[in-house]
Amino acid sequence: MAQRAFLSIRDLTKSYGDGEARTQVLKGISTDIEHGEICVLFGPSGSGKSTFLNMVGGLEPADSGSIYVGDTDICQLRDRELVEYRRRELGFIFQFYNLVPDLTVRENIEVCQYLSRNPLPVDDLLNSLGLWEHRGKFPNQISGGQQQRCAIGRALVKNPSLLLCDEPTGALDYHTSKEILELMERVNREYHSTMVIVTHNDAIRHMSHHILRLRDGALSEDVLNDQLLPAAELTW
Ligand SMILES: Nc1ncnc2c1ncn2[C@@H]1O[C@H](COP(=O)(O)OP(=O)(O)OP(=O)(O)O)[C@@H](O)[C@H]1O
Ligand SMILES: [Mg+2]
Repeated sequence: MAQRAFLSIRDLTKSYGDGEARTQVLKGISTDIEHGEICVLFGPSGSGKSTFLNMVGGLEPADSGSIYVGDTDICQLRDRELVEYRRRELGFIFQFYNLVPDLTVRENIEVCQYLSRNPLPVDDLLNSLGLWEHRGKFPNQISGGQQQRCAIGRALVKNPSLLLCDEPTGALDYHTSKEILELMERVNREYHSTMVIVTHNDAIRHMSHHILRLRDGALSEDVLNDQLLPAAELTW
């Protein structure tokens, strides 16, 4: 039997609401995402991108189907096992950073270090994220780009095998967005973490190994990209 991909999704369905108000958001999604891939997910607003990401992140139950992460179908896990899965395997980056306002940059990253068996060293991370000089500041004392870098650091410190990013550059200007994308590309190269990035920015497809597009509850595009461009060369 052929080996299963690191992230292997089969016939995933999801609907919200009951009766008349019921809408089927995902109508049977299947795809295979290999270990170490940067995978980008496009789709119109309301097409179910965040829903999909939350399901892969174990935050939202599926109606039916399977989501294998390694050898585990997370759709079959009980609540306590899901918590463990999120702690051990996952980094989650949201559009609006979700930093803890009363903790410094360093502390925001440190609190997540303890969730992992093999965390990355915080000092190294602060340096490579360009946050060393800001490590003692609180979130409201740094810029949006710096807050997002801190949020990325918080997701990365666990050294997660799977990094889920919901519009990681959505709230950032052009220049800062490019910086963040270059950072994510470096992280992917250094740590071989598998990334699923939800975005409205079409240019990101050029730096991604794998491109998905959601339309009317199904994948209208599922292709590999063998002509990668470095993040530094993207324009939009
Ligand atoms: N908790 C919920 N209860 C009911 N409906 C929901 C819920 N979450 C999402 N939906 C609906 O499911 C659909 C998909 O939402 P989702 O947030 O996944 O879209 P999206 O592709 O991420 O959109 P955007 O690009 O605007 O972020 C939408 O019609 C939304 O209204
Ligand atoms: Mg969304």
